[in-house]
Amino acid sequence: MDQKLSDENYKTIEAFALSKMSDLKSVSHNDYHVIRVRDNAFKIAKLLGVEERIDKNLLATICMLHDFTYSVRKPNIYTYIFEGRIERRMIRSLLKRFDIPDETKEIIIDAVFRHAHSFPFKKLNKKHGLYTKILQDADTLDFFDVSRVNYFLTNQNKSFFKSLRKAMANALLRYGKNNLGLFLNYPVLAKTFFENPSMKQKDRFHYYEYGINNSETLLFLPGYADSGLMYQKLGRSLSKDYRVLALDFPMIHDPEKIYDLTSLTNFVDDFVKELRLTNFTIVGFSSCGLVAISYTYNRSDKVKELILLNSVPRFILSKVNRKIYQFVKPFILLRPILFIYSRINTNKTFRKIMKLPHTSTFTRERMRTYYYSATGTAVNLIGESVFARFKKIKVPKKIIFFKDDTIIPWERYQRFVEKLDCEVVVFSEGLHADKRIYWEKLKTLWLKTPKIEFQDVSIEKSK
Ligand SMILES: [Fe+2]
Ligand SMILES: [Fe+2]
Repeated sequence: MDQKLSDENYKTIEAFALSKMSDLKSVSHNDYHVIRVRDNAFKIAKLLGVEERIDKNLLATICMLHDFTYSVRKPNIYTYIFEGRIERRMIRSLLKRFDIPDETKEIIIDAVFRHAHSFPFKKLNKKHGLYTKILQDADTLDFFDVSRVNYFLTNQNKSFFKSLRKAMANALLRYGKNNLGLFLNYPVLAKTFFENPSMKQKDRFHYYEYGINNSETLLFLPGYADSGLMYQKLGRSLSKDYRVLALDFPMIHDPEKIYDLTSLTNFVDDFVKELRLTNFTIVGFSSCGLVAISYTYNRSDKVKELILLNSVPRFILSKVNRKIYQFVKPFILLRPILFIYSRINTNKTFRKIMKLPHTSTFTRERMRTYYYSATGTAVNLIGESVFARFKKIKVPKKIIFFKDDTIIPWERYQRFVEKLDCEVVVFSEGLHADKRIYWEKLKTLWLKTPKIEFQDVSIEKSK
């Protein structure tokens, strides 16, 4: 972070902007709006873990000035269409009054110029600077702010056309809220931004917690491009009897860093220390099952049970293939390759042709936005083998398979799993955590009076 704006400059700009905006009647552009957008922007920076990469005064200034157009122009269709251009012209001349470096001024101008038309036109700024993206998302999220929506809905209009317009706008808002990720530069915010009573933050950790007063603790780790939110329904169902924690991994909050098995294991270790967890069950999903194994191997004193969901201690079974993979890995980890891979892999038609499993819009968006950090981390994990560590772990171990999972297919791993000294549970259907039945079946593992709906395969120890 090298562009800085002094406190003094910020205070002057804030006072000036608020005095202009407070005269506006429209709740969409008045002083309350710009303050909400500024607070949203700070919250976004925190949720994304990029606070150290931004200058708070600069981000706040951008938010304060972003709707300055409306302080001189009426909100009509012309202003709406050309908002960015008008804004750019006005802000450029306004900034002449301030002693701010030219480079910083350009960041402000670029952000305010590009902030409009994300919703419903999906005119996003994914390829532009951090400030530009944060401002646009902060402004978009304010569309769905409770006080703004309530004001709009309670502002009764009796005429037929006005109520028709209101009904249409209401439907549009509902559509926007249900598909929020599509209108954001950082789609992950669609799930994490609005108050979720189970979403918590402690320093650098984002996690979800259910059943806080129970002593029996389950710690769930999501897949490489998933969030802890994937366990929301399961967490709620188990919250009567268990304290359920679902942790987000850092690669879905910082798009610039690729992690490996060691750094993710340390991340889990730091989280466990921060929350002072002891004697808990750790559950790792898919590629991140390796992190659960690695953590349990290092800290078996803390873990009561290790459970792998749609996961195995080694994904590439053949030694030769593993060697080839390690050889080509540095090439796959190049940014352009990861970018191309993420675009192909998230293409609906490609997935259909290749008969790849269905992925949710949200996961697809995250695979695209975090193509470098999340996909890069997955590339690191896939080449790992923690087979030896898994065998040495003394705490009870369990592997859960779903027969119709095409990502970690039972047929491919059955013989390998038979060599492992652990309990194996094979459910008939549920895919890769995609079907509702997946969670229904999973629940039965923990609820006290489960219906027996899985086939329990007892595996003999290898000879
Ligand atoms: Fe605007
Ligand atoms: Fe705005």
